[in-house]
Amino acid sequence: MTDLGLSPDDVPLGALVPVVVDGEAFVVAHHAGGWCMFADRCSHAPCAFSTNGEVVDGSVLVCNCHGAEFDLTTGDVLELPAEDPIEIIDVAPVDGSLRRTS
Ligand code: FES
Repeated sequence: MTDLGLSPDDVPLGALVPVVVDGEAFVVAHHAGGWCMFADRCSHAPCAFSTNGEVVDGSVLVCNCHGAEFDLTTGDVLELPAEDPIEIIDVAPVDGSLRRTS
């Protein structure tokens, strides 16, 4: 399990926090169902969620570049113009640190 170098308090409910893992840019999100992470790039166009995204309605990720919405529990698209889902990676607090668990 990869330690993301963040404590649970670093990613409060509704937050999107950028992290780099193995040279790749990701975002750690805290939504109503817990924590998760995903690539810091919208599936619609090269917009970064860390600067253009927000968590709304509990577990919906909105990309404010063009308004696409994603379900943070599954990665599924909820609102166009994005057509492809995002890959959700499980994150959980372990021994006081947020760790990738999938
Ligand atoms: S880049 Fe995210 S909706 Fe277009």
